[in-house]
Amino acid sequence: NTSNTHKILISRDIGEEALQILEQERSDLRVHLQIWSEPNPADRSWLLQNVKGATGLLVTLFEKVDEELLEAAGPSLKVVSTMSVGYDHISLPAVAKRGIVLGYTPDVLTEADDRRIDWYNLVADICIMLALMASRNARIGINLVQNGEWPKAPWSPFLFCGPQLSATSVPSGTQPSKVAGFLGFGRIAQATVRRLEAFGLKNFIYSTSNSPNLNTEPESKVLDFSQSSQIPVSLATLAAHSDVLFILAPHNSSTHHIISKDFLKRMKTTAVLVNASRGALVDSDALATALKEGQIFAAGLDVVEGEPFVLQDHPLIREQNCVIIPHIGSATTETRVAMATLAARNLLQGLLGEPLEAGVDL
Ligand code: DGY
Repeated sequence: NTSNTHKILISRDIGEEALQILEQERSDLRVHLQIWSEPNPADRSWLLQNVKGATGLLVTLFEKVDEELLEAAGPSLKVVSTMSVGYDHISLPAVAKRGIVLGYTPDVLTEADDRRIDWYNLVADICIMLALMASRNARIGINLVQNGEWPKAPWSPFLFCGPQLSATSVPSGTQPSKVAGFLGFGRIAQATVRRLEAFGLKNFIYSTSNSPNLNTEPESKVLDFSQSSQIPVSLATLAAHSDVLFILAPHNSSTHHIISKDFLKRMKTTAVLVNASRGALVDSDALATALKEGQIFAAGLDVVEGEPFVLQDHPLIREQNCVIIPHIGSATTETRVAMATLAARNLLQGLLGEPLEAGVDL
């Protein structure tokens, strides 16, 4: 009898462990899985065609879940589960108005197997990696060695020097710590602060994405860290005072291109910019210009607007002081398995009408 069988459409190969959870034999639920198992993102036309009649849809951040897809699914769709922490690829109003529940994969302690998805620590690791690679000219150095050109540029006193991330050790009080700035001050930022403290940094400033108007907020000329090592500032102050700036906010209409030409112009010429959240927070054209013209020292990016396709022809890829890695902030096997299995459990809970382990409030 297939009348009670739920069709679940899965847009990627989410791995054995997660598939086993979905395939588990259960008396209260029968499922039929339809999976796009090629390594590349599922074709939009395949999704539109196959989502029809599905009760559950499991996606990643590369599949847009919008009116068109939900319309194609029809009224049977009860749950959308994304194997991602960010959900800017999902139209929340379109999901909410259909009464569909939405699961995602934030930091969750799994009681079943006692496994914590500590993705924010991994992204913080990548932030430090990018800050170091960008400030220490890693791209230029690696290219040089790989191209067999090292003999032409042997060690020399100031060759490949960049600004120092670690605090310089001096008699207390004479040398202020570098300032690390954060756009967005959630769990990834906090985990990055902990790592930077180990580098001897003491001064942290942050803006949240609720304060996006660069021109209406005054810039503080002096920062007073005597009361607290972490102080909230305006965007203008964040731009002007950050020696290293970490972009760690969700993407939405108020954060789109928040790192604009104007913002970049206000930054220090020695500053390093790191983005490990979503590419579209940064205006890539403006960043390429800022890097080319030396408005800032370097950038380290795990994400780029329109990735991966726009990048091939983009000036950003040519700037040697721009280190770009392909969106691997959470890419450890342990974390990706934990994210996939959580996405699978969310999906089943949604089908059974149970509260989701990690659901988005719609
Ligand atoms: C997410 O989960 O949102 C990351 O960008 C990819 O793991």
